Amino acid sequence: MAFKVGILGLGTVGTGTVQLLLDPTGRQALLKEVEVYKVGVKSPDKTRAVSLPTAVVTTDLEAIVKDPAVDIVVELIGGLEPARSLILQAINNGKHVVTANKAVIARFGDEIFTAANAAGVYVMLEAAVGGGIPVIQPLKQSLSVNRITAVTGIVNGTTNYILTAMRDRGSDFAEVLAEAQQLGYAEADPTADVDGLDAADKIAILASLAFGGRIKLQDVYCEGIRNVSKADINYAEKLGFVIKLLAIAKKAHSSNSLSLRVHPTLVPQSHPLASINGVYNAILVEGEPLGQVMFFGPGAGAGATASAVVSDILAIAATLKTGTTKPHPLMSCSHQEYCEKAPMEDLVTRFYARFLTQDHPGVIGKLGTCFGNCGVSLESVVQTGIHDNLAEIVVVTHDVREGDFNASLAEIRALPAISSIASLLRVL
Ligand code: HSE
Repeated sequence: MAFKVGILGLGTVGTGTVQLLLDPTGRQALLKEVEVYKVGVKSPDKTRAVSLPTAVVTTDLEAIVKDPAVDIVVELIGGLEPARSLILQAINNGKHVVTANKAVIARFGDEIFTAANAAGVYVMLEAAVGGGIPVIQPLKQSLSVNRITAVTGIVNGTTNYILTAMRDRGSDFAEVLAEAQQLGYAEADPTADVDGLDAADKIAILASLAFGGRIKLQDVYCEGIRNVSKADINYAEKLGFVIKLLAIAKKAHSSNSLSLRVHPTLVPQSHPLASINGVYNAILVEGEPLGQVMFFGPGAGAGATASAVVSDILAIAATLKTGTTKPHPLMSCSHQEYCEKAPMEDLVTRFYARFLTQDHPGVIGKLGTCFGNCGVSLESVVQTGIHDNLAEIVVVTHDVREGDFNASLAEIRALPAISSIASLLRVL
């Protein structure tokens, strides 16, 4: 065998990866030259879906990243530590690295790619975003001649499943989350998914590749789906929208800075991302001269994610086979400057707002005056009924600067007739 792979972790993705590597028939011929040389696990005696010779399995993960025989280290243990340290040790020992670990790359990409470039090795991460969907390599290669203007994605399957089920069944967030946990679609601790943190990691990685600069994770504005209510999903539907958790990286109108954000968003029903349902992911890339291209597919799962991991192993093996020692420029991440973040108050977007108010004459007029005072133009105003003696008024604005919209809300909050602002959502 020409290429020896050391795999760290034999969970869902690790098992899928080993199964794929051990079953090369009918796939790219180069797979037959890749050997599962070592697999590092925590519990060697655990019953597993894949059987490996005892000599291959070890609990000593550090030995794998230092082993002179290993060409490629595949990090599939997840979490921050020891994953970060093992990746860095592998790089410092001259190993190429394949990882599915978006959390480590989004936080420590700077340190990891600086080390990889110095050592002349590749760190590949197709599986870190969108599971089996090829999007990292397309951004690095096929789309790289475009001036990218926006990357907009549904990159978290758990939240897309929850929002889809809430809409289809008219259920509340808590009810669907509990059911998703029972079915194994949502983690026991769902924080990273439902609070948008997983999507923030992923859009930071996509933005870095699309816009050719490093991204500070704290520059990504992040709002999850816990406050999305059944009422908002119903109103959205009546107004011609669906609610999706979008991860967005977009060039600002008037500068080179980037708007980086994750938040629940009203998406027009005719938009390509509106029809992405259940656990599926999709990423829409917009650029010049290409226009729009959308990548769609399974964002998680053993087989899908293993497909991405093994494609990275193969890409490295193919490059090594050419015998060149120079890094392939379309496979490396060599940018060093940080992208500039556009402040959220300068974001120009439409808003959806739901107000609970006294049902008095002139309340809609007063709301309109507050919006008008701050230069906020309204696209629609709907009042459908009375709930607990309060009128429910739903407003969709035209495009407005977020800072101006917030100023109008401050005036509205001071109106005695306003009981509460029940929800505020951005509109794509
Ligand atoms: N937890 C992620 C999701 C899958 O729900 O999409 C892995 O990235």
